[in-house]
Amino acid sequence: MLVKSIGLSGFRNYDGARADFDPGINVITGDNAQGKTNLLEAVYFLSCGHSFRTRRDRDAVNFSFDTARIDADIESDGREHKIEIAFGNGVKKTIKVNGVKLKTAAELSGRLTAVFFCPDDLEIIKEGPSQRRRLLDGCISQLRPRYAAAISAYSRAYEQKSRILRDRREKPELLPLLNEYDDAMCRLSAEIIRYRAFFASLICEKASEIHREFSGGADELTAKYRTVSTITDPFLPASELLPLLEEHQRSHRRAELESGACLSGCHKDDVEIFINGQPAKGFASQGQTRTAALSLKLAEREVIKDDKGETPVLLLDDVLSELDPIRQNFVLNRISGGQVLITCCEDARIANRTGGRLIYIEKGTIR
Ligand SMILES: Nc1ncnc2c1ncn2[C@@H]1O[C@H](COP(=O)(O)OP(=O)(O)OP(=O)(O)O)[C@@H](O)[C@H]1O
Ligand SMILES: [Mg+2]
Repeated sequence: MLVKSIGLSGFRNYDGARADFDPGINVITGDNAQGKTNLLEAVYFLSCGHSFRTRRDRDAVNFSFDTARIDADIESDGREHKIEIAFGNGVKKTIKVNGVKLKTAAELSGRLTAVFFCPDDLEIIKEGPSQRRRLLDGCISQLRPRYAAAISAYSRAYEQKSRILRDRREKPELLPLLNEYDDAMCRLSAEIIRYRAFFASLICEKASEIHREFSGGADELTAKYRTVSTITDPFLPASELLPLLEEHQRSHRRAELESGACLSGCHKDDVEIFINGQPAKGFASQGQTRTAALSLKLAEREVIKDDKGETPVLLLDDVLSELDPIRQNFVLNRISGGQVLITCCEDARIANRTGGRLIYIEKGTIR
């Protein structure tokens, strides 16, 4: 997977700019607030049709433009493709691949795979389960469009069921609809849980290996995927998971009606991370947290590579400056073998060590 070049117009602080990338390492440098992260955001946009920063596309439109445009020449499956994305205030987003308009952003899935990592991703270790589900969902969705569809169907059902539960006193006439949503959520959970169990174990196995190297053999990272309490073996076939999910749902109905919240289904799943047997969330040091989060992301990249036979583009935002030189070297060695875009504020020092192309950004212009 390669992004050969990208053109931006009306995107964030770019009026009109073009960048050509090296197939290996690209170091994107410049002072603060010049557009480095914005450039990575645009590349990420090409992989899934939306931003990693905002849920509202219009936030990414330049303040003095009506429309933002991203166009790029990419290489995947040994062929070249052109992707064009346009969106703006009050206009529907359009995505074209080789001149043909896609019906939904989901159809973009798999054309350009990308893994993004920034300092906020330390939340994967430090915060609640939603960050870890996001990592898992992001990885599986890029590889299995069927999973992406199941996740969006599940969140629609979840929203609707939550609304009925929340309004249970004002609108009791809607309560009979609950069964329908329970059925849908149990069926979709059974499908989602199988995928999650499988990919969580792949990612964790790789992450554990990377983390061990990263820490010079000192730390052992392990992980355990957890879903609803009636399921002890998430690898069971969906047909055997279904009755267990239904049992869990039945036993939580009363509590759901009392609390007014959805209490049963895969929306509460977690992947618990342990370092040397202790839960990382409560016990890991800053350095261990950073190393573990980065190991999980690099593992995601390797899992995608093994599955698709092509290395996804790696987008690293501001991560090197936080590491000591030994760990920087480890990262730089570990990331070779695919296309990488790294941002950093430092001068050319890091770029010289990577041997990569240096891309200098100043106020939305690219040199
Ligand atoms: N929609 C927008 N329109 C115009 N400018 C924007 C928009 N959104 C963000 N910006 C501006 O883009 C500038 C560059 O942001 P970016 O996050 O890319 O900086 P950066 O080079 O990564 O800086 P840092 O080194 O501090 O991380 C910021 O000054 C920001 O205010
Ligand atoms: Mg930045």
